[in-house]
Amino acid sequence: MSSLKDKIVVITGGNSGIGYATAASFLAKGAKVLITGRNPGAIQEAVYALGHPAEGFKADQSDLNDAKRLAEYVQGRFGKIDALFINAGVAKLAPFETVTTDLYDELMNVNFKGAFFTIQQLLPLISDGGSITLLSALNAYAGTPNAAVLSASKAALNSLGRTLSRELASRRIRVNTVNPGIITTPLLEKVGMPDVLKTHLGSITPLGRLGKAEDIAKMVTFLASDEASFITGAEYNVDGGLMVHPLIG
Ligand SMILES: NC(=O)c1ccc[n+]([C@@H]2O[C@H](COP(=O)([O-])OP(=O)(O)OC[C@H]3O[C@@H](n4cnc5c(N)ncnc54)[C@H](OP(=O)(O)O)[C@@H]3O)[C@@H](O)[C@H]2O)c1
Repeated sequence: MSSLKDKIVVITGGNSGIGYATAASFLAKGAKVLITGRNPGAIQEAVYALGHPAEGFKADQSDLNDAKRLAEYVQGRFGKIDALFINAGVAKLAPFETVTTDLYDELMNVNFKGAFFTIQQLLPLISDGGSITLLSALNAYAGTPNAAVLSASKAALNSLGRTLSRELASRRIRVNTVNPGIITTPLLEKVGMPDVLKTHLGSITPLGRLGKAEDIAKMVTFLASDEASFITGAEYNVDGGLMVHPLIG
């Protein structure tokens, strides 16, 4: 995918898990990558581990002022964005009856509202012919118990992807959404998923394992490349077949 050489890529939440693996994948294809996150120490460590020409910028996706600062920084540093990967997200579970307005606001503010206004701030910098990839989740479609807010926050992203693909087509900006299955990243510890559940979920996945961050990274770099130049408004499940998990056999 030499089409990514010297392209400017911005990845929100790039210091861990899927964002980090995707940054590494873009760098391996010759792109210049800026990652964001909330934790300056984690950003610095990730930038060091990723190596030149990775760069970092502290920005909380749920904070509109941070989105504005990020846009100003990118404008001054690079002058444009060729590929934007909206990856930052948080996951918290709670039975419906116990969901508080604080939990609701936290998930919606980071996963949807923050994603929405980050794109709005960065859009003037995205080159005509560039791309935006949104990271959603199978939960956008699955009826996962205790995930009412998380699932809705992701489903809203899928909807946004479809709308933006139409609104931005006149600038040939392609907008696509990726729905990962269960991917082994620090997120699984953050939601307190027990090992026994991980093993179970791997065993019921048709391809027989949990996903790796690199599985998602490959799809995201593909969608940003010229190889995907006729793909927009699309959604891809990258889940080892979990979405079509067979009830029998
Ligand atoms: N792992 C899975 O099974 C799975 C499945 C479906 C979808 N996803 C989605 O994949 C995305 C990445 O998750 P992951 O699995 O790679 O988890 P992760 O290892 O926990 O990484 C999450 C990343 O998002 C950043 N982040 C979180 N809140 C942020 C905020 N308010 N502003 C800026 N950055 C923020 C984190 O950095 P800081 O902590 O420094 O802010 C970190 O870099 C999320 O959107 C998640 O919903 C994951």
